[in-house]
Amino acid sequence: PASARTLPSGEVALGGVPLAELADRFGTPAYVLDEDEVRARARAWRAALPDAGIAYAGKAFLCRAMVRWIDEEGLDLDVCSAGELDLAMHAGFPAERVVLHGNAKSPADLRAALRFGVGRIVLDSAGEIARLAALIPAGTRQRVLLRVVPGVAAGAHAAVRTGVEGQKFGLPIAGGEAEEAVVRILGQPRLELVGLHCHLGSQITSTDPYATAVRKLVELLARLRDRHGVTLPELDLGGGFGIAYRPGDPAVDPAAYADRVTAELALRCAHAELSVPRLTVEPGRWIAGPAGVALYRVLAVKTTGGRTFVAVDGGMSDNPRPALYGARYTVHLANRSSLAPARAVTVVGRHCEAGDVLAEDVALPADLRPGDLLAVPAAGAYHLSMASAYNHVGRPPVAAVSGGRARLVVRRETLEDLRSRDVGV
Ligand code: LLP
Repeated sequence: PASARTLPSGEVALGGVPLAELADRFGTPAYVLDEDEVRARARAWRAALPDAGIAYAGKAFLCRAMVRWIDEEGLDLDVCSAGELDLAMHAGFPAERVVLHGNAKSPADLRAALRFGVGRIVLDSAGEIARLAALIPAGTRQRVLLRVVPGVAAGAHAAVRTGVEGQKFGLPIAGGEAEEAVVRILGQPRLELVGLHCHLGSQITSTDPYATAVRKLVELLARLRDRHGVTLPELDLGGGFGIAYRPGDPAVDPAAYADRVTAELALRCAHAELSVPRLTVEPGRWIAGPAGVALYRVLAVKTTGGRTFVAVDGGMSDNPRPALYGARYTVHLANRSSLAPARAVTVVGRHCEAGDVLAEDVALPADLRPGDLLAVPAAGAYHLSMASAYNHVGRPPVAAVSGGRARLVVRRETLEDLRSRDVGV
């Protein structure tokens, strides 16, 4: 985060609070989130696209404090389950500014969305159209978007590429599946179709795929007008904006994205003689990721088979991203300075498998020892939200820092928490 500082003692501080102090107070492993950075990153999108909807994708990181900040910064919220919606509602977020996603929404998800009155539900399949309509009380209407597949390949890993045919999300524009679904939705009086949605993928570092998607979506909008006499006022382009995990990694700049996408949208709409639809974007990782740091305590340093392993008190349970996507991270010594030369080590977790690696081939001082504190940047998104309690290791707490003060916003999952779900023999 921008507020990270190295103090004269060599300690690293975040939001004006030394990480070693946070480790003592909240224990390790822990996540630290810089509130000011989250807010600044939310504002960067707001400023880049002042007239657009900016819906923070809660799957990246969600807790009540986060919901509050997103609300206060005037952003909308994207949720993809009754669980995320429940949390947002308990934090007082206005349902009208919520959009619900999901390729397999359960009846409970849909009922919760209708009961709270979410602003928009994104339909993902032909079958879901009638299923949702049947749940809507007579005399009322629900605004919906249709998720379409533009046929644009983008994203850091196959597991997060959703803009192409042949994966589970949305309905392809190619072959007419999306158009057929639009006709079905128009035939449902309780559904009000307000627009199209697409989400290309995640950790995308170029604006090119978004421009291509705009072209394809505007072509579809024009076709829908010409063939079915319907003009849809909204276009939701999803999220996926890449961040730098390591120095020198490329990242998306919201202003550059905005320039590119609004220019493309204006051009294509003018060409098709369509009025320009209102844009929505759904940044998740870009807002939360760089604002968070993961803190670990070194438990063991071992050199074997020509490699040095630094084992810490967390691992794949609090960060499954290296194992799942081959994600690469940097690691910093955070509790002291060291004059020892750096050497390449592998930082591993405490879990019972060899694949439990947090960072391969990172440079750390040769005098690193048990008790030292390590900090992993860019841990604010898809860390806690994807954490598990593997090996009955409770999920870490989240401390929020701002203006030299820290407060606990999510407490650690205790052994008692874990045991309490086990209801007997
Ligand atoms: N909108 C929709 C409909 C999405 O499915 C997603 C992410 C987003 C927005 C936000 O994407 P973002 O801006 O955060 O890239 N667990 C993976 C990432 C999965 C993303 C899933 N959908 C990871 O850790 O890389």
